[in-house]
Amino acid sequence: MIAPPSTLVRDIGDTSDVAVVILAAGQGTRFRSDTAKVLHQAAGRSLLGHVIEAVRPLDVGQVVVVVGHQAEQVAAEAQDAGIDGLTTVVQHEQRGTGHAVQQAMPALATHIRRVLVLFGDTPLLTAPVLAGLFDATKAAPAALLTTEAEDPTGYGRILRTTEGSVRAIVEHRDATAEQRQIREINAGMCLIERQRLERGLAGLGADNEQGELYLTDVIGFLHDEGDTVVPVLVPEEFVAGVNDRAQLTAAAAVLRERRLDHLMREVGVSVMDPATTYVDVDVEVGRDTVLLPGTILDAGTRIGERASIGPNSHLSACVVGDDATVHSTRAVEADIGADAAVGPFAHLRPGTRLEARTKAGAFVETKNATLEEGAKAGHLAYVGDATVGRDVNVGCGVVFVNYDGTEKHHTTVEQGSFVGSGTMLVAPVTVGEGAYIAAGSTITDDVPPDALAIARARQSVKPGWAKRRREEG
Ligand code: UD1
Ligand code: CA
Repeated sequence: MIAPPSTLVRDIGDTSDVAVVILAAGQGTRFRSDTAKVLHQAAGRSLLGHVIEAVRPLDVGQVVVVVGHQAEQVAAEAQDAGIDGLTTVVQHEQRGTGHAVQQAMPALATHIRRVLVLFGDTPLLTAPVLAGLFDATKAAPAALLTTEAEDPTGYGRILRTTEGSVRAIVEHRDATAEQRQIREINAGMCLIERQRLERGLAGLGADNEQGELYLTDVIGFLHDEGDTVVPVLVPEEFVAGVNDRAQLTAAAAVLRERRLDHLMREVGVSVMDPATTYVDVDVEVGRDTVLLPGTILDAGTRIGERASIGPNSHLSACVVGDDATVHSTRAVEADIGADAAVGPFAHLRPGTRLEARTKAGAFVETKNATLEEGAKAGHLAYVGDATVGRDVNVGCGVVFVNYDGTEKHHTTVEQGSFVGSGTMLVAPVTVGEGAYIAAGSTITDDVPPDALAIARARQSVKPGWAKRRREEG
């Protein structure tokens, strides 16, 4: 499958007179969720967020999102996209898609001449697919996207005229057995001249199986008025609606596949096993980086060039520099510098900053900690609330004891010092530049630069003791 470009490639003319109306007021009963359907995530972005991203490149004059169920959260999610001129209107009672569009009409600016209606639950939509509607309306007052559905159950069926334009849409529930045989369905996206839409909406009735005001009836109305409604047939993959969790999973898989395809073909990223590599749609990966099996890259992650990620690494909102290696690691909000070596089996928690050429090796956990250039914690260490200076060596089993049971405290280890294995650094404490801490020490007081600190009981040896014990036993 070839990934569709994320930006618009063809000219669709001036769109400043176009308003996009996105319907997102429904609850999504079939999701069986306490969260509104359009807020559910697919590949690191909400369903509504995906639709808004498809709209962004069209550069339209106005975007109105119709909210209702969990109105505040859905409106906040819509605003989060940061689109200029995006507003929301509330549909207090969900009385159907036609009723929802009716709520949006008074919010339209006076210069708006065309309205593009979209649904908030079609995350596979792209700008180039929407561009087809603009081409089709050059010679007609209305166009809508249709598709040949693999399984048309539940969708509105397209009834065509003998000339091939759309005569009407009949919802599945209202369709006759014969009409249900039709596989061409209404995808839910239409572009209609404003005045005609207004007239169509004014005449809507709820004489149907669900007792709702159907937007789809506007299409039949336009045809009856003598207007041509152009069907734009597109592949189902771009317009599938998400009505339940199984469809959510399927849509997310398509979105990830598109992202991986883009990274492999357009950027030059090697992906050893796409089936076990989960990359969210906004993740950036640089050229010649290798993603090994079992890699999960969550939203907000950016990876440089020539890096090696995985196998089995899960990174959330992380930044990884060029040439870094991140093997079997869990990392959250961590900044991993160029040429750094992480894992296997490292746990980098929020606030971790590994500068260039650092190492956080096997069973090393970090949190709110900076390892400055060249610093190394090779094995079995906890580095929390710490500043570890350049080229410091943190030995095996070192613990930055940051918590006194009530509060967290900071530890500073200045550049070039050596922290012997098994050392406890009891915060707050500072180890001066170039100092040396003997293995097994428990450091509670500051160590001056260039000093040696030994903080443990001196060993005593009783010759022959063990042998005597065995013989007396
Ligand atoms: C709708 C179409 C159907 C089409 C299908 C494509 C109608 C009557 N039916 O059916 O022809 O094949 O989409 O996916 O238009 N919404 C509101 N307010 C409401 C009702 C719905 O905002 O009062 C929103 C929902 O949140 C959703 C969208 O409109 O995002 C579509 O509603 P939904 O109930 O999913 O419509 P379908 O039954 O799928
Ligand atoms: Ca739907």
